[in-house]
Amino acid sequence: MKWRVYPPDVLPLWVAEMDVPLAPAVADALREAIEIGDTGYPTGTEFAESLAGFAARRWKWDGMVVDRVALIPDVMMGAVQVLRLITDPGDPVVVNSPVYAPFYAFIAHDDRRVIEAPLGQDLRISLETLEETFRRTREQSGKGKIAYLLSNPHNPTGTVHTYEELAAVATLARRYGVRVVADEIHAPLVLPGAEFTPYLSVPGTEDAFSLMSATKGWNLAGIKAALAIAGAEAAADLRRMPEEVHHGASYLGVIAHTAAFRHGDGWLDALLAGLDANRDLLGRLVAEHLPGVGYARPEGTYLAWLDCRSLGIAPEEDATGLAVVTDLAGPARLFLEHGRVALSSGHIFGTGGAGHVRLNFATSQAVLTEAITRMGRSAALHAR
Ligand SMILES: Cc1ncc(COP(=O)(O)O)c(C=O)c1O
Repeated sequence: MKWRVYPPDVLPLWVAEMDVPLAPAVADALREAIEIGDTGYPTGTEFAESLAGFAARRWKWDGMVVDRVALIPDVMMGAVQVLRLITDPGDPVVVNSPVYAPFYAFIAHDDRRVIEAPLGQDLRISLETLEETFRRTREQSGKGKIAYLLSNPHNPTGTVHTYEELAAVATLARRYGVRVVADEIHAPLVLPGAEFTPYLSVPGTEDAFSLMSATKGWNLAGIKAALAIAGAEAAADLRRMPEEVHHGASYLGVIAHTAAFRHGDGWLDALLAGLDANRDLLGRLVAEHLPGVGYARPEGTYLAWLDCRSLGIAPEEDATGLAVVTDLAGPARLFLEHGRVALSSGHIFGTGGAGHVRLNFATSQAVLTEAITRMGRSAALHAR
């Protein structure tokens, strides 16, 4: 999608795909399956065990219980299906805006209501805002069900929530009877200086869920599979997940994701070193070519959140509803039309997104340099 949606003269730094060769361990596993015709239905617990092993090695978390894991087609379908288990139509689902745009659409399409608890100015979860949102929503819902879809790490800002922040979130969720679903798809992509905390490793999260896959870490969006993981008190809920949900995952996806978690550490380490270098390069390029644009150095993911409000481009409205990921407005429109650089428009991420763009820096340093140079030229042209 990244390189095919726009014409060839456009540098695409928008959708969350990386410009990387496939990890050899993943390619080998897929090749072997194809060669021996191993292309039937998935079974067994190898995928869950591979993730449990990865979690123990990388995050020192040995609490992932394979019996409380369910195969799902991908993380977003998993989010929808888990929300179906713990809420009813019309129920509220809290999100931290600005946040991954499909959170709005997928929740709304399933007849749940999105309630925003915006991030603080520092792009971290504002515990005051979250508590106020939980309190207000609880007041309005009475004894009704409330869920909270958390992005850990956070897309689009690259914020990696700390253990302390997540512990505070867990306390608030318990206090107000809110069920937490942690979308942890970016978990393997935490850059030097930050540490990933699995939400379910935090005390008080026993009634919560985590959604994980190797999709972002190893660039496997086209080879779908993912896992829903239940805390001890959520296991009975997970068992109610209908059979057709597991049926949606592809066996080649299971093979690829299992290989990534089992044998992909070395490739991932090389990737993270490259992303770390690109994160620094991006900082230098923004300072040089886009003075005045705010670059919040991400702690994780390969997404950078650029505050372009100082460029004086007519601000677009925040789209807190059903924006399409290719919708463009404000700065993103300028950078595409004048600079031939495709970015994600900030407004699609909901309240707090207008005037920003999200830039995907998982590309070569040559492409990154050319893109920021072009963006700088278009901003200068606009300023004249
Ligand atoms: C936070 C977040 N969740 C989910 C997804 C999509 O995951 P999947 O393709 O497994 O549905 C993305 C993709 O960028 C994402 O950033």
